[in-house]
Amino acid sequence: MSAKRKILVTSALPYANNSLHLGHLVEYVQTDVWVRFQRLRGHECIYVCASDAHGTPTMLRAEREGIEPEELIAWIAGEHQHDFERFRISVDNYLTTHASENEELTSRVFRKLVEGGHIGRKMIRQAYDEHRNMFLPDRYVRGTCPACGARHQYGDNCESCAATYSPLELKDPVSVVSGTKPTVRESEHLFFRLGNFEEELKAWVPDHVDPAMARKLKEWFDAGLRDWDISRDPPYFGFSIPGESGKFFYVWFDAPIGYMASFLNLCRSAGLDFEAFWGADSTVELYHFIGKDIVYFHTLFWPAVLSGAGFRKPTGVFVHGFLTISGEKISKRRGTFIRASTFVRHLDADYLRYYYASKLGPGPDDIDLNFSDLMAKVNSDLVGKLVNIASRCAGFIHRLNDGVLARELPDDALFAEFAAAADEIAADYNGRNCAAAVRRIMALADRANRYIDEKKPWIMAREDDQRDAVVAVCTQGLNLFRTLILLLKPVIPGVTGRAEQFLGGGELTWADVKEPMLGTRIEEFKALLKRVEADSVEAILSEAREDAALPTTQATRAAAGSEAGQVAQPVETAPAKLVEEIDIEHFAKMDLRVARIAAATYVKGADKLIRLRLDLGDSQRTVFAGIRSAYVPAALLGKHVVVVANLTPRKMRFGTSEGMVLAAGPGGKDIFLLSPDAGAQPGMPVT
Ligand code: MSP
Ligand code: ZN
Repeated sequence: MSAKRKILVTSALPYANNSLHLGHLVEYVQTDVWVRFQRLRGHECIYVCASDAHGTPTMLRAEREGIEPEELIAWIAGEHQHDFERFRISVDNYLTTHASENEELTSRVFRKLVEGGHIGRKMIRQAYDEHRNMFLPDRYVRGTCPACGARHQYGDNCESCAATYSPLELKDPVSVVSGTKPTVRESEHLFFRLGNFEEELKAWVPDHVDPAMARKLKEWFDAGLRDWDISRDPPYFGFSIPGESGKFFYVWFDAPIGYMASFLNLCRSAGLDFEAFWGADSTVELYHFIGKDIVYFHTLFWPAVLSGAGFRKPTGVFVHGFLTISGEKISKRRGTFIRASTFVRHLDADYLRYYYASKLGPGPDDIDLNFSDLMAKVNSDLVGKLVNIASRCAGFIHRLNDGVLARELPDDALFAEFAAAADEIAADYNGRNCAAAVRRIMALADRANRYIDEKKPWIMAREDDQRDAVVAVCTQGLNLFRTLILLLKPVIPGVTGRAEQFLGGGELTWADVKEPMLGTRIEEFKALLKRVEADSVEAILSEAREDAALPTTQATRAAAGSEAGQVAQPVETAPAKLVEEIDIEHFAKMDLRVARIAAATYVKGADKLIRLRLDLGDSQRTVFAGIRSAYVPAALLGKHVVVVANLTPRKMRFGTSEGMVLAAGPGGKDIFLLSPDAGAQPGMPVT
């Protein structure tokens, strides 16, 4: 194996104004598989990410929610991080771009660019919303395409004829924010002189960007590198530009600096040397995983900014394609906006990780998720082939040899064949060809099953004198299984973790492909993975459809705007004594309902409360629950709870609470919300 490499890896920072969906996960899974592979090979591989906090969409969403942008990003970043954990994305650090480290680095970068003569000023004319007193980003103006006359087009390009233009050229323009006709105003903006870096970028691209992307870049070079507008006027949620009054950095200026900021934040807690990774002559490998929509930012602006500010440039930018679901783009309206959290509520994250890995090549091709295909692939490959090997062999080892493996392999050559294939598989992983790696691994799984089929240990075991031979065959089978588990560790860490436990030899390392496990004891075999059932898939799809009918923004806007407020006191400590008896009529007066938590936010100035927006099927309501000590809002979204629906609304300092959610426990960390079993629908009476 090659010498120990030192690698820093990033994934694109998800916007902090919305939840992660299955499209985002293509990137986070792809990055994580690569990172886990490098670590498995013994390299030092650090992986950082963050939520991208700034910009107009964050500002407007926070406004709709009736909360401060800081509150919104804390909530959504918390949700993102939680999703990362549940999908086993092994980031070493997760931050937001609103962090102080990012402000510090953004100023430093900007100062250097000014000193280097890379920042200029220009007056620009921009669409302005007189009603809301704000300049409008291109995408916030819609109107009729000046080229083809198609209506309702965005301000930057036409989806109908693909023409590009400025929002000021649109006919009958309308502000998306207020619905009024925008005016035009002038303002002075700061520009980054990208053209100063043309030669340097042209030299850098061929060795650091995929050939397919390099061709695209050539088109951009041919069209000429234009100055890049990096300032925005208030109101804007972002960092103020030092030395300027009333100017903010454009979100895309500080977003990639967020990669450095997340790493700096890690350096400060883990004692790493920031300059050794980012200094101009760093020898550390630096890779950015991104989607094909943000290539310009990462292959032109970003390396130029880094260079102008005296930092190193990336070693590589890895571009992947877009996810479609059954051929459709991801959109709320189509019901294809499937939240990461929805998926893991019903299925193990490893299923999706495996499915994506089996489809991901090294290039920017789009991939399609089809749930019947996912179900078939997981059930046949992981359950039918992989886990099957262990389940066929383990029983005999326990029954005939007390769970202890044989001391020798009957077929060393076959074990060596797997070890040799492992080298090719390593090359696939390293080259980001996960699909090829998975194909080879499954071919090996077929080979292992064929070995057992040929030996037929279940027939041999009928003869007493064949005992040792059966144990030997099954030892062989389990060693092949072990190599397969090792090879799949980057892809399905949940399953392989359980398999390692079953094999009883501790954590597998790459060196184990050459060293069989002999004479040791294995654990009792337990199912390592359940089949994917159609019910779970149906549950995911129906939740996504529910989501489509109830956009978060609408739900949360209602939550924030409502005049509501009542603290749903969690039920007191389990009473030692029962309270006074009541008859059934008394009980029947209570209208208990199943409700789905459509939105959950902290309540400013209330350290015990979480504001819940509850969906009761045909209506919605706000309930303030005193559960903050035990729950984070992100963990509550989509959860089904039981609410006392006919409780007199109670006016509180924060609004009116229209009901109470039921919970058990004494309080503090020990509060446990009551949930119905799967299948219960919002609005169902509890009787
Ligand atoms: N905030 C910017 C990135 C800043 S990086 C300094 C952004 N955020 S995003 O939330 O829109 O996207 C994050 C990543 O997810 C991007 O790399 C994007 O390409 C990727 N994807 C978003 N939707 C996707 C699919 N449907 N399919 C595959 N990847 C997708 O861009
Ligand atoms: Zn057009």
